[in-house]
Amino acid sequence: MQPSDVADDLSATLLSEQQIREKIAELARRVESDYAGERPLLVGVLKGAVMVMADLARELKMHVDLDFMAVSSYGLGTESSGVVRILKDLDADLSGRHVLIVEDIIDSGLTLAWLRANLESRGPASLEIFALLRKPDAAKVNVDVKYVGFDIPNEFVVGYGLDYAEQYRNLRGVGVLAPHIYS
Ligand code: IMP
Ligand code: MG
Repeated sequence: MQPSDVADDLSATLLSEQQIREKIAELARRVESDYAGERPLLVGVLKGAVMVMADLARELKMHVDLDFMAVSSYGLGTESSGVVRILKDLDADLSGRHVLIVEDIIDSGLTLAWLRANLESRGPASLEIFALLRKPDAAKVNVDVKYVGFDIPNEFVVGYGLDYAEQYRNLRGVGVLAPHIYS
């Protein structure tokens, strides 16, 4: 669905389907040249990264392997605690592989900081991060992200894989969730 299909639930449309498509194409060109002659392993973090993964992988004019992981934050409340539990681990062995973590959004950065350390310990040849969105004002830890699509304001956004209570993941664009939905 399009942001216009749930216009009452959004206080603003942040990114259209076309803006996202163009940005992913631009970043894909960088990935192709950075990994020329290699066959990188794209690691998607479920469920949010599914759309980025599907579009990035298909945009790339090179062979890639795809694998997925599901993680969950242990902590109490809605804030990410940085203590992460693996719900579904990777199938692939990372040793000697060029690994690119594909994420929907970096908020506090705690999840990705944990994930990077965890995957690093498995002995990849290289490990980089690709994130469609980043909220610079929300960062609690600094995570080195090689490929970033858009820096966005520190507001709760939905769409293109990102959910609120499992809804809006199938929105083609990204919008700011209207306060009346969650308050
Ligand atoms: P972090 O550990 O705080 O960086 O949390 C990252 C995860 O929280 C993301 O992978 C998302 O699943 C979720 N998240 C963070 N910000 C938002 C948002 O604005 N909308 C929906 N999900 C979000
Ligand atoms: Mg996520």
